[in-house]
Amino acid sequence: MVYDLLIIGGGPAGYRAAERAGHRKMSVVLFEERSLGGVCLNEGCMPTKTLLYSAKLYDYAKGGAHKYGVDASGAVIDHAAVVARKDKVVKTLVAGVAAQMKSAKVTVVPAAARITGKSAAGFTVEAGGEIYEGRKLIIAAGSSAAVPPIPGLKEALESGVAMTNREILDLKAAPKSLIVLGGGVIGLEMASYFNSIGTEVTVVEMLGRIGGPTDLEMSEMLRELYTQRGVKFMLSTKAVAVNGQRLAVENADGKAELSAEKILVAVGRRPRTADLNLESIGVYTERGAIPTDEEMRTNVSGVFAVGDINGKSMLAHTAYREAEVAVNVIAGEHDTMSYAAIPAVIYTNPELSSVGETEETAKAKGLKVKVVKLPLRFSGRYIAENEGGNGFIKLIMDSDGILIGAGMIGNPSSEIIFGLAIAVERRLTCAALAKVVFPHPTVGEIFREAAIAQI
Ligand code: NAI
Repeated sequence: MVYDLLIIGGGPAGYRAAERAGHRKMSVVLFEERSLGGVCLNEGCMPTKTLLYSAKLYDYAKGGAHKYGVDASGAVIDHAAVVARKDKVVKTLVAGVAAQMKSAKVTVVPAAARITGKSAAGFTVEAGGEIYEGRKLIIAAGSSAAVPPIPGLKEALESGVAMTNREILDLKAAPKSLIVLGGGVIGLEMASYFNSIGTEVTVVEMLGRIGGPTDLEMSEMLRELYTQRGVKFMLSTKAVAVNGQRLAVENADGKAELSAEKILVAVGRRPRTADLNLESIGVYTERGAIPTDEEMRTNVSGVFAVGDINGKSMLAHTAYREAEVAVNVIAGEHDTMSYAAIPAVIYTNPELSSVGETEETAKAKGLKVKVVKLPLRFSGRYIAENEGGNGFIKLIMDSDGILIGAGMIGNPSSEIIFGLAIAVERRLTCAALAKVVFPHPTVGEIFREAAIAQI
């Protein structure tokens, strides 16, 4: 049988593409070698958020509840129970994806897929000893944790002293101490969880700042907050060697040796293109990623690449939209991917959320911008629910008053940032935003306040 569509990879990119294509009555095969849901559901976004929610409850109980008139003294956190609940949540979500595949009449093949070549109808893929033929092919094989060539690191990973996001989420006992290599999104979320539950955490970051390209002021505020809570940050520091539980580092002050029970490697992710046999159909890669155009097409007609594999924006929500674009294009509809307003959230406590340009990226592009910054304490709801909180919002406008970026540090900014993403994507001005009625009292009202402050 010749299928309409073959999809390699059952993460957010692949399962969303399969579900959309299935509902459009295409015959679809989805290949997944591990577990439906990919990194996001099994060893990324969802398990991490489950752990962080337990940590947040514990933080309130142990340190903050009395500020709200609640006596929660004696609170304890049971890491093993937190991990067991995480496993339950993951199981529910994976089952949900399986049910979606069933209702969309997608054939799921639980095996590693390898492209074998072109055929008269399209393409052939081998999986589990069978050959599948499809008219179109979507590659959504995702990414894996980058392992830098630091002497001794490979051995430390093999021995279990060093871990990636995959293994750390399954630790049954909390380590006494943890070195986090990389102060990006994964590093900070994991540092946050383990700091909350009492692990001694040291973050080693190569750059002079944490949180990657996020707003510098927000990144500094987050670092100060976590420093007060006991996390040690070693910035502008390079890891040079791993020897068992010891990590040799180098910075402007010279060389030092750190030691910890466990080491988390969180220095970025790499697209998983190596084992797909892309050469057999002529799909080219650039620095390991598959380049795509705005319709998610690769250089080979009929082949699309969505999600982390194209290396453009390694986020599940980007992957969803890219998958929809690819399926719409395959179905003959006009659709294109826009990367101008992809929200980014770091789920620490408080959360950091941003979209579009930051002050720094705008200036680096030579854009003339206007910036408005307001404390979140201008929202009554924030004061009611965030005792002692000092978060803020920042809006970045271009010279025509069009919103081109926004950032917010404070809870629950992850639930609010989409509003600003709509404004950035639709190129709204502050004057237009100010005419929208927001519910009161909400923390989200701060957007409107910031917009009004601008006009
Ligand atoms: P990342 O790119 O966010 O951060 C990696 C950090 O490691 C950077 O700050 C970099 O300067 C540093 N680094 C690189 N090499 C180093 C070295 N040898 N020594 C010390 N520091 C070094 O990558 P991360 O945190 O691994 O996350 C991977 C991907 O997963 C990202 O693309 C991210 O978008 C995604 N993700 C998203 C989440 C979210 O949306 N909340 C949560 C977790 C992951």
